Amino acid sequence: MNILVVGGGGREHAVVKALKQNKKVEKIYALPGNGGIAREEGAECFPVKATDLDGIVAFAKSHKIDFAAITQDDPLVMGCVDRLEELGIPCFGPNKAAAIIEGSKVYSKDLMKKYGIPTAESETFTDAEAAIDYLKTCDYPTVVKADGLAAGKGAVIANSFEEAKKTVEEIMVKKVFGASGNKILIEEFLTGPEVSVLSFTDGKVIVPMVSSMDHKRAKDNDEGLNTGGMGTVAPNPYYTEEVQKECMEKVFLPTVNALNREGRTFKGCIFFGLMLTPKGAKVIEYNCRFGDPETQVVLPLLESDLLEIMLAVREGRLKEEAVHFRKGAACCVIVASDGYPSHYETGYEITLPETKEGEYLYVAGAKAEGEKLLTSGGRVLGASAVGNTLREAIDGAYALAEGVRFKNAYMRRDIGQRALKAKI
Ligand code: AMP
Ligand code: GLY
Repeated sequence: MNILVVGGGGREHAVVKALKQNKKVEKIYALPGNGGIAREEGAECFPVKATDLDGIVAFAKSHKIDFAAITQDDPLVMGCVDRLEELGIPCFGPNKAAAIIEGSKVYSKDLMKKYGIPTAESETFTDAEAAIDYLKTCDYPTVVKADGLAAGKGAVIANSFEEAKKTVEEIMVKKVFGASGNKILIEEFLTGPEVSVLSFTDGKVIVPMVSSMDHKRAKDNDEGLNTGGMGTVAPNPYYTEEVQKECMEKVFLPTVNALNREGRTFKGCIFFGLMLTPKGAKVIEYNCRFGDPETQVVLPLLESDLLEIMLAVREGRLKEEAVHFRKGAACCVIVASDGYPSHYETGYEITLPETKEGEYLYVAGAKAEGEKLLTSGGRVLGASAVGNTLREAIDGAYALAEGVRFKNAYMRRDIGQRALKAKI
């Protein structure tokens, strides 16, 4: 089979590596892919942007593609799956109608309210003045969120009225996120451990994957700016069997059913961003795709075949498909360019250590230039390791990350520490 993967991050590298395990796979094309994917035997990258739907369609027409996995948010929200399916190419990933759960936070919030799915209380605004008036009545901290996609930067926790007002002005008046800021949510601030749960669904059944924990802030002890994620561990110790049962009953199944009722059947991977509050699990956000860097700890633990699962999702027979995860744990440490997520330099040559079984180097922001691999982004790569225990996985991931060399490399030193100390 010839497979097309649309996206170009560490997540896509992890997906490509997992897909390659299937003997049926002859060739994987990644658009645009990255320097790590390009080095994978049997994989080839082409410089077509993940948001260039016409370019993706043209590529698919001129290459014999048997199946496509769309794993990045913006092409999904723009309707990449609809376009490829029109050509007769079966896809893993939701169509445009279902991808709205990530494309519009206002839509998702209304859906959750309508179907009684637990989430933070919130109000929606289309007018900055009305939003600022409302902020005068809020308790602080409070959370201001742009409606649309904002590269993970669209949620701001404001500690004071002044800060919240400034955020509203930036989003709605200065339009720092463009049209994504035409509407905003002002949301109750929740507290509790956060859990990421990626789950496969074919619109009939939903199969949660092993849970995980992201580390979003740039610096140790959860200080510094929010990033795309500086590291992950799986499983998340706060996500006990009891919590999983509660989430299945109150969040996962109701979400799949709600989307069906709204005529927006979801097929693909739904990412539930949950907060385990004193009043139970609540949804912080839905994503319509695998998480990054959650995928870099979830897929190393997947024992079953990813391609077979993806095909079963597409064909509506997930119920019969085996989805098993190995026991033990995984940790991913992101090695970034110093200065990320603000200003950082790129173009430095990377040297990589050898990997042993159970170790993975997932490239994100690096490009291939001849034989060389050069840094090209903020998050350069993820060093992932599996172990029988969380401690083993953390030690493995750090030992691997230490062996990655490039100028101005930076990593957090405390990935997994919160999970190790978790008191359940
Ligand atoms: P989001 O872009 O919606 O995933 O939000 C990014 C991050 O902001 C989340 O991972 C949380 O850490 C935090 N956050 C979002 N919404 C809330 C909330 N209502 N209460 C507390 N923290 C939140
Ligand atoms: N790690 C969070 C996300 O993928 O959105």
